[in-house]
Amino acid sequence: MRIIEYDPSWKKELVEILEEADREFFSDKRLKDEIENRPHGKLIESFAVKEKDNHCLLLIDDNEIIGFICYRVLYGIGETYKTYVMPRHRRKGLGLILCETALGNMRGRGCRIARCEVDIENSAMLKLKFRQGYYIKECQEESMDHQWIRLEKVL
Ligand SMILES: CC(C)(COP(=O)(O)OP(=O)(O)OC[C@H]1O[C@@H](n2cnc3c(N)ncnc32)[C@H](O)[C@@H]1OP(=O)(O)O)[C@@H](O)C(=O)NCCC(=O)NCCS
Repeated sequence: MRIIEYDPSWKKELVEILEEADREFFSDKRLKDEIENRPHGKLIESFAVKEKDNHCLLLIDDNEIIGFICYRVLYGIGETYKTYVMPRHRRKGLGLILCETALGNMRGRGCRIARCEVDIENSAMLKLKFRQGYYIKECQEESMDHQWIRLEKVL
């Protein structure tokens, strides 16, 4: 198993796993908005290829992507915006390894603060982030039925 920086030779596989991730993460209505209005090929190019501030790490096992993390580095702040481990590989510490690797990369790129937003109902991700030493910065109401927590960690 290894963690590598995204490069375009992984694009097809990353699009597939990103679609799986979104299918799991978003409810039907939000999935429609998130996926149908934003083709993933384009999204990934802007995530990981075109924009110099965006980075994506892939967790590879047996030449297959089994997880990934995407983050952006801007003005000394590293913001994670997508983390995913395939269901059959969960609860083995891989999500934590991905998140720790991303934090190490952020530090290496000069970040002083790490930041992310987590759905208040996503207890797995919240636990993982608290384990990493993130603290709650603020709670945000996105809509009547959906709330996000903004977390930060000093690097
Ligand atoms: C969140 C996610 C990345 C965690 O990946 P993972 O590889 O299972 O995480 P780890 O095995 O490294 O777990 C680290 C810690 O996180 C917490 N955790 C992980 N999954 C959990 C769950 N289902 N319930 C409660 N706590 C959980 C635990 O504290 C765990 O430590 P423990 O196993 O010793 O109790 C994975 O569940 C996932 O891909 N979820 C769907 C996508 C998603 O919600 N992404 C985040 C928003 S973009």
